[in-house]
Amino acid sequence: MECYIIILESMKISKNMQTALNNQIVLEANASNSYMAMASWCQVTGYDGSASFFYAQSNEEREHMLKIIHYLNNLGIPAVIPATKLPASSFKSLESILKIALNNEQIVTTAIHKMVEIAQKDKDYSTSAFLGWFVNEQVQEETKFETLIQKFDLIGRDKLAINEIDKILASSKSD
Ligand code: FEO
Repeated sequence: MECYIIILESMKISKNMQTALNNQIVLEANASNSYMAMASWCQVTGYDGSASFFYAQSNEEREHMLKIIHYLNNLGIPAVIPATKLPASSFKSLESILKIALNNEQIVTTAIHKMVEIAQKDKDYSTSAFLGWFVNEQVQEETKFETLIQKFDLIGRDKLAINEIDKILASSKSD
């Protein structure tokens, strides 16, 4: 028991860092909801590949949220489970959805980088190591959406092209 307390003491994280991690839970929860709304719109619009891509993306964001919840809770700091904001439910086009998604990922990347700065300033090596996974993940996420958006210039924006891009989205989804 004594040993357990010593471990927790040595991994204390600042209030500032705790707030940032809880704010990140909000961002991931909103991202999960937002991707769910995009998936739902794609499904009713007939973009089946894109729907399956965004449902998987939504699950992935939930996993990100859970990683942070577990990290805080394992340190003995109860994570704050947030309310989420109502996501947009209708969209102009598949291309516009992908642009919104990229913008969302860029906001998340900025937030992750700010947390890394806080961890470095605090000399909080544990959180810094924990955040390393998220830093790499964001590089992959941004690249993924940039590549998908590029397809509209490469393949086109007519119905046949969108059908092709829809298939590409199906094959790009995370497992
Ligand atoms: Fe968890 Fe795609 O940011």
